[in-house]
Amino acid sequence: MKLSEYFRYNGKTDNASELENKKVLRTVFKGVRIPWFVIILGAFLAVFNAIVILTQFDNYNAIFNGSLTSLKPLWAYLLASFIQYLIIFASVIYDRGLVTVVTRVRRKLWAKMMHLPLKEFEEESPDGMLSRLTSDAEYAARPFTAVMTVLQLLTYFMSVSSGAPKDVPQATIYLVITLVLALITLIFTIKVSSKSVTLVQNRISAQTAHYSEHLDGIKFIKASSAEEKAIERSNELIDERYNAALYNAFSSGLQALSSNFTYIIIYSCAFLGGIAAIKAGSISTTAPINGIYMFGMQLELAMVALLTLPNYFSAAGGGTKKIASIFRMQEEDTESGRELETTGDIRLESVSFGYGDKDTVRNISVCIPEGKITAVIGPNGSGKSTLIKLIDRLYVARNGKIYLGNESSADVSLKSWRSRFAVVSQDASLFSGTIRENILYGADREVSEEELMNAVKAANLTDVVQLHPDGLDRDIGIKGDKLSGGEQQRVAIARALLKDPEILILDEATANLDQKTEEEVKQGLKALMEGRTVIMVAHSYSAIRDADLIIVMKDGEVEAAGTKEELAGTNDFFAQMVLEG
Ligand SMILES: Nc1ncnc2c1ncn2[C@@H]1O[C@H](COP(=O)(O)OP(=O)(O)O)[C@@H](O)[C@H]1O
Ligand SMILES: [Mg+2]
Repeated sequence: MKLSEYFRYNGKTDNASELENKKVLRTVFKGVRIPWFVIILGAFLAVFNAIVILTQFDNYNAIFNGSLTSLKPLWAYLLASFIQYLIIFASVIYDRGLVTVVTRVRRKLWAKMMHLPLKEFEEESPDGMLSRLTSDAEYAARPFTAVMTVLQLLTYFMSVSSGAPKDVPQATIYLVITLVLALITLIFTIKVSSKSVTLVQNRISAQTAHYSEHLDGIKFIKASSAEEKAIERSNELIDERYNAALYNAFSSGLQALSSNFTYIIIYSCAFLGGIAAIKAGSISTTAPINGIYMFGMQLELAMVALLTLPNYFSAAGGGTKKIASIFRMQEEDTESGRELETTGDIRLESVSFGYGDKDTVRNISVCIPEGKITAVIGPNGSGKSTLIKLIDRLYVARNGKIYLGNESSADVSLKSWRSRFAVVSQDASLFSGTIRENILYGADREVSEEELMNAVKAANLTDVVQLHPDGLDRDIGIKGDKLSGGEQQRVAIARALLKDPEILILDEATANLDQKTEEEVKQGLKALMEGRTVIMVAHSYSAIRDADLIIVMKDGEVEAAGTKEELAGTNDFFAQMVLEG
C-alpha cells in the first residue's frame, strides 16, 4: 500500500464481519466485570484537575486586567498548582481501571478460544488468534476512556454557560461564525485520526502474526535458506506499519494544527470584536474582551471533547470488532448428552465430512474392532487424518453415524466421548515446562510417583530421565525443542499412558524418525498399545505388521478393508506397501 493510499483508506475494508458498534461493545464486555468505581473515581479526580486549571484563568485575568491589587491571586495560583501535582496520581488510578478492563477481556477471550471447535482455528489462523490476544485486546478499554471525556465535557459546559459574555454582542457574533468554521476542521481531523488508529492497529496485528509464524518456522527457514524471503516479507510489513505510523503522525499534526487554528480564530474574534465594541462605545475597559477570549477557549475545549466522544466507540473498530466476532462464535458443547457407559467396537455408518463445500471423506462405513489393532493406510491426502479426527469427534460428521459399542456419538457428550481416546501423532504437541509437567498434562487426577515412573519406564524414557541431572524436572524448552524428535514422541507416549485410554490413536507417530529412534519409540508404543483398541495411520509395512485389520483409503473413500491375507492379493496399494517394506 502506497502512502497516498493511506489517505484514501477506508477504515472498514480490512475487517472481518460488519457488526454494529453497539453490538460489538455489548459482545466484548458481556460478563466482564468493569471496575466502574476505579474508573469513575480516577476520572473525577482528573476532571477536578481540569477545574483547577479553569480556576486559574481568573488569576490570569486578574494579571491581564491589571487588577492585581494584592498577592491573593498568587497564593491561589500556587495552591492550585500544588493540588494539580497531587492529582497527577489520579491518572494512575484511572489507568489502573483501564488496564483491569483489558486484562479481564483478555482472560475472557482466552477462555472462549479454548472452548471453540477446531474448525474455527483453521478459518482464522492461530497467528491471527494470537494477534487478537496480544495487540487487539489492548484496545478493548478504549470506550472507557470516554468516561473521562464525558466528565470533562460536563465541567466545560458548566464553566462555559457561566462565563458567556453578554456585554460585547459584536464579538459574540464573530465567535459563533468562526466556531462553526473551527467545528468543520475539527470534524475532518477527528475523522482522519479515527481512521489512523484503526489502521495502525491492523498493521500491528499483521506484524505480530508474521513474526509468530516465522519464528515458529525458524528451523524450516534455516534448512531451506529462506532467510532472505522472510526478511523481505517482514520488510514489507514494516513498511506498511511505518506508513501507517506516518499517517498517524500526520493526523496528530493535523489535529494540533486545527486546534491551533481555532485558537487563532478565537483570539482574532476577541480582538476584532473588542475593537468594534470600543468603537461603538459599548465598552470602556478591556475586561470584557478577555472574557470573550476565555469563553472562546472553554468553548473550544468543550467542542473537542464532544467531537472526540464518538471516536472512542468507533475506533474500537478494527481489532475490537475481530475480538467480538470471536466471542460470537459457537462454542463446542462438551457437556450435553449422556455419559458413555459401554465400550465395544467403533462403527462408522455412511459418514461424510468436508472442510469446505466439497466432501473430503465420503460414505465411510467401517467397523474398528475392540481390543484389536486397525491400520489405516492410503496415499497422502486420501483422508486418513480426517477420518481419525471424525472418530474422536474433533470434527462433526456431516452425514452418517458413529457408534462406540451400541452408543451413538449423537447421544453422548463430547467430554465423555473424548475421555476414551488418546492420540499420539507425528507432532508430539509438547509445551514448555518440565518432562514431569508434560507427562501429567491432561491427567486430571492424582498421579502417584510410582505410577509416573511406570509410565516413564514403559514409554522407554528411563534413560532420558536418568542421564540428566534434573531428571523428570528437566526443562524441555518451548514445544519440547530441547529434546530430540524421538524423545519428544516418548514423552507424548508416557502422557498417553497416564491417560490410560481405551482407544489409542496413532497418527504417523513414528514418521520422520530415523530407524534407531523409531525402534526406541516403538518399544514405548508397544507398551501403550497393549490391551487397547488401536487405530494407527502409518506409511510403512513394518509399522503395521501387527495390525489385525487394514483399511485402505483412496480419495476420501474406503477402497478396501480386510486382514493382511485378504488384501495381499486384491489391493494394489497394500501390495506395493508390502513390497517396499
Ligand atoms: N483443515 C483443513 N482444511 C481444509 N482442507 C483440509 C484440512 N485438513 C485436510 N484438508 C484436506 O483434506 C484432504 C485429506 O486430508 P488428510 O485427512 O489430512 O489426509 P491424509 O491424512 O490421508 O494425508 C486433503 O486434500 C487435505 O488437503
Ligand atoms: Mg495425515
